Parts: sequence; C-alpha cells; structure tokens
Amino acid sequence: MTKFQGNTKDGTEPLPAPPPLARERIPVQKSSVCSRSYFMVVMVFFHVYILNVIALLLYVHYNNASNAVGSDLDFTSRTNNHKIAEQLNTEPPSDTRFTRNVYLPRIEGIRVGHVQKVSLAPGKMHEMRTLSLKPLLFEIPDFLSEEECAVVVRLAQLKGLTESQVMVPEGQEELSQQLNLSPEEIFHLLDLNQDGQLQPQEILTHSRVRDGIWLTPENLREIYDGLKVDQDNNGVLSMEEFGQLNSDSFQRYLLQHGVKKSHLVRNSKHTWLYQGQGAHQVLRELRNRVTRLTRLPPSLVELSEPLQVVHYEQGGHYHAHHDSGPVYSDTVCTHTRVAANTSSPFQTSCRYITVLFYLNSVEEGGETTFPVADNRTFEEVSLIQNNVDLLDTRKHCDKGNLRVKPTKGTAVLWYNYLSDGKGWVGEQDEYSLHGGCIVTRGTKWIANNWINVDPDYQRQARYQQLVLQQQESQERQPDMNADEHTGNHQEL
Ligand SMILES: *[C@@H]1O[C@H](CO)[C@@H](O)[C@H](O)[C@H]1NC(C)=O
Ligand SMILES: *[C@@H]1O[C@H](CO)[C@@H](O)[C@H](O)[C@H]1NC(C)=O
Repeated sequence: MTKFQGNTKDGTEPLPAPPPLARERIPVQKSSVCSRSYFMVVMVFFHVYILNVIALLLYVHYNNASNAVGSDLDFTSRTNNHKIAEQLNTEPPSDTRFTRNVYLPRIEGIRVGHVQKVSLAPGKMHEMRTLSLKPLLFEIPDFLSEEECAVVVRLAQLKGLTESQVMVPEGQEELSQQLNLSPEEIFHLLDLNQDGQLQPQEILTHSRVRDGIWLTPENLREIYDGLKVDQDNNGVLSMEEFGQLNSDSFQRYLLQHGVKKSHLVRNSKHTWLYQGQGAHQVLRELRNRVTRLTRLPPSLVELSEPLQVVHYEQGGHYHAHHDSGPVYSDTVCTHTRVAANTSSPFQTSCRYITVLFYLNSVEEGGETTFPVADNRTFEEVSLIQNNVDLLDTRKHCDKGNLRVKPTKGTAVLWYNYLSDGKGWVGEQDEYSLHGGCIVTRGTKWIANNWINVDPDYQRQARYQQLVLQQQESQERQPDMNADEHTGNHQEL
C-alpha cells in the first residue's frame, strides 16, 4: 500500500517496458510457422485470452448476483423483507460498520404514465401510476375506501386538531447567537450569488426559514419603505444598508402591522394518530398497506412517525417545502436523536418516504403541487424570479410543473431522498419540493405517513437496537407494559 503511494506521488514509476511478446514475435514469423517458439507464443496468447474470458464471466456473474438481491424483492414476496428487518434488528452496530448488507428497495418508476399493479390487501389489486421520476412520485387511486377515510377524519376530530404553524423567532435568535455570527457573516451567508448585494429573493428565502412568516416580494418592498432601509431605492441591500438592521427588524415590522394566518408558511390544523399495536383497526390496516406498498422492512415502518391528519379550511394553504432537511455531517435526525452521540444544535426530520392520503375530494383548489417535478435542471435561484415565486402556493400554483388533484381515497407516494447507490438512503432529493395549493372552495382533509430512515446507517441500526432492548426490558416487567402505548404516544 505505502509502496504504491510512494510510486504515484513522486512520479518516479518507470515507464512500462514494451511487451516482451511483441519483440519475440518478429523473428518467429521469419522462421517456420511450426517452430516451437511460435507454438509457445500462440499458447501463451490463448491462455491469457481464456483467463480473461473466465475473469469477465465471473465478474458479470457476481455483479448480477449482488444486484439480484434487490430485484428479487418483488411486490408479493414478504419473506425477503422480513429477513432484512431481522438483520437490521439483530446486527450489532460495531460489526456492520463495513459489512452491512441491508438493502432498502425502491419502487421503480419506469417512465411517467407507467401503471403497475400492486397487491396491498388480500383479494384486491391496486394500480399505481408513475407521476414523475424527479422526484420519484406515484399515485394510487382507491388506496382507502370511503368508510376508511371517514373513520380517519372522525378519529382526528375526536382527538382534536391544533394550529399547524408555530412561530419560533426566539429559538432562531438563540441559534444565530450560539453560532456567534456578525452582521457581515450573516450578509455573506445570505448573499448566495456573492455579488456584494442582497437581492429580494435572497432575503425572502432566508426569512421564510427563519420565522415562518411568508414574505412576498410586494410586502418586502413595503417593509423596505416602512423601515427606510433601501436608501438609494435600487431594490437591493448593500452591506451598509443591511448592517443598520437588527436581525428581527422585518419581523417586528410585520408583527406591528398585523400578521394574518394567510401570511404564514402554512395555514392549517393537524393532529397525530398513533398506529402501533392496539391502535384502531383502520389505522393498523393503513400501516400494513403502506409497508406492502413501500416494500420496506416492517420494523422501519413500525418505528416511523404516527399518522398526521391535516385539515385545511377554505383559504388554507401550505407553501412549497421539503418534508426533510438536508443532512450534513453534524445534523442529527429527530427520530434517532437518542442514538446520536452528539449535542448538535442541528436537528431535522429524516423522512425517506412521504405517503399522502386524500381523505376527501376538494371542491376547488387544494391540489398538491410539485413545482419543479421533472424539470431538466434544478436551480434554487430560479424559484423566485421577476415577481413569480414558484414556492408561493397561494398565488402561483398554476405555474408549477405538476399538480395532483385531491380525490377521496387516493394516495400519493414520493421519495424525499435519493439512493446512496449502495442500498441505503443518500442525499435529499431537491426535486421533492411540494406544497398545498390554496383551497378556493370547500375544505380539505389529508393524512401523511412518513417513513423515517436515518441516512447514517450506523445511527439507524443503533436506534433500532435501543428500541429493541427497551421493548425486551418492558416485556420482563409486565406491570410496566400497560403504560407502554400511552408513553410512546405522548412522546410523539
Ligand atoms: C460518544 O462520545 C464520547 C465522547 O465524545 C466517546 O468517548 C464515546 O466513545 C462515543 N460513543 C459512541 C458510541 O460513539
Ligand atoms: C427548469 O428548467 C429550465 C430548463 O432547464 C430552467 O431554465 C429553469 O431554471 C428550471 N427551473 C427551476 C426552478 O429550477
């Protein structure tokens, strides 16, 4: 190893000698064709050739064999999935560091419009249509029956729904103080194109992440005027102009002028329904169907978030967003944080798959929009251009690339992450950007099932092992067992 490195580094590796066989060949040709040396040369060539062919065949064979692990997992074979689940549950994390053999199957899209039959419940076939490849997105009509939709809505109403949008300006303030950023540093962070000025879209993108108030280009101009920040009136902020602002100036201005629900990133109510052991039969059945649909190990699905039920009233919306955050080296997934060995301030939902169910047919509006689905390129800067903000689902849903009409009982499924090419979760799929268009007539009921997978395989394995240990210790103390469900429920 070290010798090899030495050779390549200083470049003293000698030039390859001319192949010896070529030199031998010339005198041989001049003598007899039946000579001994000619025979030797032919035999050597022959052997090298045969060895090459054998090596090639072996290579192809083994390559196919390792690929076949995935393609064998067809829709109806549940046994393989169980095997995978067991591996994920039992393998000690230290041993799996380099030898992990867990494979998360992905549904194949084939092409837009492709329809495949899927068996999700006994005695019934469903049709699954590919809606886009970027993101990998499918639609399954009649995933739920009318009665099932009604039960889920009723359970949600029984539990009670709360406002979805929580404004967290203080939390964000703490984070920027924690990071000790000066106004200059913030300026350079925001200045995506590094031209020394902050364009409106650079400010807008930032403020939305910061405090959940949805600034539009129009009210940004109002704020500039109100606060008299853009003194030269050129529509962009220089470092000097930006430096005169406090980090919460925009927000204070808006709050003073009144923030309505329609000014927020989302305008809806939601609740969570537990789906584990002992849950309502319809909710259990839903989870089983999702497991069969995604073909993922049941243990993964079982440990995922409960069902989220969302209600939009007329005028409700959810501007375009990702269900998962990008995962950097110091980011921790919310669901596996107990298994993470850090106190990282960066926490994000790691939702490998979203399965969204329409629980009613909306009279008008309320589509799910995928503004950049199957676009040839994705450019964050192109999302807000010339007063058209593709992220704005109150104003510009019609300009997005793909919209799904809410139809009672239909499910849509998409992947929020790409594959890492080795059978595990890779990078966030930026094309999975989506939002809920404004409901212009009637109301809208949907439910979300998120399948949580940590892109860090070690962390996911450690987490599952922790849960397993916890369950085992609870089984040894039967009196504790009664509290198990309520405990889990509250935690989520
Ligand atoms: C957790 O972190 C501590 C200190 O940073 C280290 O000593 C320990 O080995 C780590 N444990 C694991 C499981 O990585
Ligand atoms: C969509 O694709 C076109 C063509 O490649 C590109 O010009 C445009 O910027 C893309 N839109 C977004 C939002 O990335």
